[in-house]
Parts: sequence; structure tokens; C-alpha cells
Amino acid sequence: SIPYLMKMTSKAKLVTTRRGVKMAQVFYHVPTERIRIVDDNEIIDLGGKTLHFIEAPMLHWPETMFTYLEEDHILFPCDFFGSHLAMGVYSDEIEDIVIHAQRYWGEIMMPFRTMAKKALEKLENLEIRMIAPSHGPIHRNPKPILDAYRRWAYGETKMKTTIIYVSMWGSSEKMVNQMAETLASEGIEVVVYNLTSADLGDIAKDLVDSRAIVLGAPTVLGGAHPLAIYASYLVRALYPPIRFVVLLSSYGWGAAAVKQMQEILDPLKVEVVGTLEVNGPPTEENIKQIVEIGKLLAGRIKGVS
Ligand SMILES: Cc1cc2nc3c(=O)[nH]c(=O)nc-3n(C[C@H](O)[C@H](O)[C@H](O)COP(=O)(O)O)c2cc1C
Repeated sequence: SIPYLMKMTSKAKLVTTRRGVKMAQVFYHVPTERIRIVDDNEIIDLGGKTLHFIEAPMLHWPETMFTYLEEDHILFPCDFFGSHLAMGVYSDEIEDIVIHAQRYWGEIMMPFRTMAKKALEKLENLEIRMIAPSHGPIHRNPKPILDAYRRWAYGETKMKTTIIYVSMWGSSEKMVNQMAETLASEGIEVVVYNLTSADLGDIAKDLVDSRAIVLGAPTVLGGAHPLAIYASYLVRALYPPIRFVVLLSSYGWGAAAVKQMQEILDPLKVEVVGTLEVNGPPTEENIKQIVEIGKLLAGRIKGVS
């Protein structure tokens, strides 16, 4: 819409942050003389309508800023508070809007949790009656989305584990299934994703409030199965607030998957509660070992206040 609006009226100026100037030039070739830079907390009085600009860098691009329309108490927060939806004008018309917003948070905002906290602090003293993000429906009752964003930005997790796995002949699958059963019987909410059919957005959504993850994958060509490498990398990049990890694997002649998955996840600095690599399909003894690791993980999850 920027090139369209700039063409429609030759007098229009693009109002942006300092970092937005280059973006406007690179992406839309907006000439410098048609750009007006505003700083954090700057105000533009349009005559009866006052625009208050609030810098919110990295949510989710460097130049992001929110605009607060003072007289109407409306916040225009760019992508923040958004969702990947192209239906419904108002969020209260959408069933499970918070789930859609959670998915969007997981995919787009979760890596920038630190910046999100800062932005939420800046909003604390504003009376916000409506939030109109650039993606998804308008929140005319902003409380549910504000409450959800506070939970997610501050990394509040549930007694929940997301299990992500891939298995060629069912050995790793047997292992994760036992883990799911054990955790569920210990009262932990469990969500299981098979990487051959899972939607990555769904995984991102469940990482938002999971306290632990379990990764299951065989050794393939001297490392973890490529889908598991991909998933481990994605978990690391999305920076979820998980606290605990368990890694399960099956191999044919030389175990290598757990080491590689662990190395990829290392920057997250989460506690590895247990790992198990079995040769071929899991034996009864291996199943008992998984039950033990599962109980240990459940205990660690419940121990977090
Ligand atoms: C294409 C391919 C490559 C494999 N590469 C290795 C390997 O490098 N090292 C190893 O120990 N096992 C290797 N295996 C054997 C599997 O790790 C083993 O069969 C394992 O039990 C499979 O577990 P799953 O049923 O969960 O897929 C390979 C198997 C396949 C099909």
C-alpha cells in the first residue's frame, strides 16, 4: 500500500523511524524528500487527531513502530498482536482467536521476546480501547490479546510437553509413544508431531507455552535424520521458553543423532533431563528406561512454579 498511497497523492509524506528510511528506499524507492522521520514518543497533530509514535524495534522488523491515536485510544501496532488470518473484521467474531494469535506469536514474535517485553512496558500507561494490527482482525476488546501477550512475552509455560519426531521404520516412534503415554499418565499435557506430516506453524504454536520438548529421531548417514536437524534448528531459532529437553533415538550401527540434536539445541541453555539411544527397535528394557526418563521429566516440569 505504500507505493499506491504515495502515487495517489503527490503531497503525502511517509512517516517512519530513522531505521525505516532505508527500508522505504530499498523496498519502495520512496524519495528522501517524501519521508518524514519521527523519534520515539514524537507526536504529530493532524488537527483534532493526534498521532503518538512509539518505537518498537524488531517486532518483527528493525524499523517497527506503533502509532497511538490519542483521541480515539486506538493502537496501530504493525504486526504485534496480529495473526495470519484473512477473515473477520473484529477478533471477537473469530472462534479461538487467541489460538490463531498464539500461532502467529510462535512463528513471528517469539524469537524477539526481549523486545516484546520492552514494547509492552511502553504501552502500560496508555488507555487502549482498540488494537488494529496490520495482520489479522481488529481487537475491539483488547484485554484477551493483551493478557495473552503478557503471558507469552514473559515466557509463562504450562505443564505441557511438545513431542516432535521422525521415524523410518517405527523404532523412534515406539520410543516417543511410550514417552507420551508416561507423561500423560503423570498429568502432563502432551502434543505429538510427526515431522513427515506436521505443520510447522502448529509446532511453533505449541512451543509458545510448552515447558519441555522431546525430540525423537533415528541416526541417518552419520547424523540425525535431516527432518530432525531441521526441527532442532527451528526450535533453536524460534527461541521458545522451554526449560527441559529429552532426546530419544534409534540407530543401526553407530549412534549419532542425539549428539547432533543436542549440539544444535545447545544455545538455548535448557536442561537435558535424559537421552536414550537404542540399537534397532526398543527392547522391553529400553521401554522401562523411557518410563523412568518420562517420570523424571514430569517431576522436573511439575517442579517449576
Ligand atoms: C538411509 C539410511 C541411512 C542410515 N544411516 C545410518 C547411520 O549412518 N548410522 C546408523 O547407525 N544407522 C543408520 N541407519 C539405520 C537406522 O538408524 C536404523 O534402522 C534405526 O533403527 C531406524 O529407526 P526408525 O525406525 O526410528 O527410523 C540408516 C538407515 C537408513 C534407511
